[in-house]
Amino acid sequence: MKITDFYKYKKPGRKISVITAYDYTMAVLAAESAIDCVLVGDSLAMVMHGHGSTIAATVAMMALHTAAVSRAVKEKLVIADMPFLSMRKGLAPAMRAVEKLARAGAQAVKVEGVEGHGKIIAHIIKSDMPVMGHLGLTPQSINKFGGYKAQGKDPASAERLAAQALELEKLGCFALVLECVPAALAERITASLRIPVIGIGAGQFTDGQVLVMQDMLGLYGEPPSFVKKYLDGRQLVVRALNEFDSEIKNSVFPEMKPRTFSEQPAKVRGEGNQHGDS
Ligand code: KIV
Repeated sequence: MKITDFYKYKKPGRKISVITAYDYTMAVLAAESAIDCVLVGDSLAMVMHGHGSTIAATVAMMALHTAAVSRAVKEKLVIADMPFLSMRKGLAPAMRAVEKLARAGAQAVKVEGVEGHGKIIAHIIKSDMPVMGHLGLTPQSINKFGGYKAQGKDPASAERLAAQALELEKLGCFALVLECVPAALAERITASLRIPVIGIGAGQFTDGQVLVMQDMLGLYGEPPSFVKKYLDGRQLVVRALNEFDSEIKNSVFPEMKPRTFSEQPAKVRGEGNQHGDS
């Protein structure tokens, strides 16, 4: 899926699928799948680095993970998150962050919120780096929200979000992520915009959905209630690890075979027929 397909898919109502990836191994799986595009989300601070929130993500972290993902994903759009405060220190530092992410392989950046940094969003877009907006429960704002709380539940905040969504479209964003808002509000915002709205915990009436890959594969902690687990990855992996452990301790692995002089050395990871002991 290319950036230009976002506009094309909105009208016929062709839904858009987005998944996060942070490392080469998982990005290869995303690349092989039918998923439309890949987000290097700042949730990597939690999922890959064990931090308590996305506030710990830095531009350097985002660039490192974006480079790993973009080595694997060639045919899909790779979007990288602008991390906490990277839009709030002025135009030049924001553009340096965008440049780092673009040089690492991002084809677009995602920016949380709009209040106070609309001009920077416009400048990024005018500099030919596409921007995806992100409104609702923007995780970089949890200190202001007082935790991970659904947004847009009262009429005033619903109106504010609807107005901000229109503002992001006017600034030139190519899509909008709407996180944890009531389904009716997400439906209204989706209908009011020409750009596609990608929902997460925002009901089914958006133009697409995004999930954290480790959440939907059941690999990371207890996911939010709106996540559907498509795999119990944690149980499967721990079971495989326990089997490995048990086979080592019971001398089942490696398989016992009598050694012969003609035996070929085991292949090692990497190129061709390199010998492990050469
Ligand atoms: O950081 C992230 O992974 C995200 C998505 C969950 C939308 O922003």
